[in-house]
Amino acid sequence: MNVRLRVNGVEREAGAEPRTLLSDLLRHGLGLTGTHVGCEHGVCGACTVLVDGSATRACLMLAVQADGCDLTTVEGLADADALHALQESFRQHHALQCGFCTPGILLAVVGEARAGRSLDEAAGSVLDGHLCRCTGYVNIRAAIRDAWGSLR
Ligand code: FES
Ligand code: FES
Repeated sequence: MNVRLRVNGVEREAGAEPRTLLSDLLRHGLGLTGTHVGCEHGVCGACTVLVDGSATRACLMLAVQADGCDLTTVEGLADADALHALQESFRQHHALQCGFCTPGILLAVVGEARAGRSLDEAAGSVLDGHLCRCTGYVNIRAAIRDAWGSLR
């Protein structure tokens, strides 16, 4: 099947089997490998992207379900050479080590901010739904708090 979607502001098109996961379409069909795949059953949060503005586990959605949708992946956060405010805050706070969980957390936090959630709601719900094996979450929380006021 042919899937047409808007990704990071660009119209894209790719072929997909009816059973193809959105995470696989992004990574293998469109070359957007910043969307990471860990558990493939909705637990780790690594594959989180924004679909029509909502944080979504790309491993729990079929590619064909995204036909006609507007997606944001981690590749769409930075503005040319300038990191997104949340990425810069992660860098300053040493909020990542291996970085495997990072794209999913960034997208989930940005989705919460754009939805008008409070910082406390967002930080709690995001980190409850994302597994990080490296950091212990302390620096991630600090980075989110520091950047929150400038997120969009
Ligand atoms: Fe999708 Fe873990 S790979 S939630
Ligand atoms: Fe390694 Fe989070 S930084 S899993």
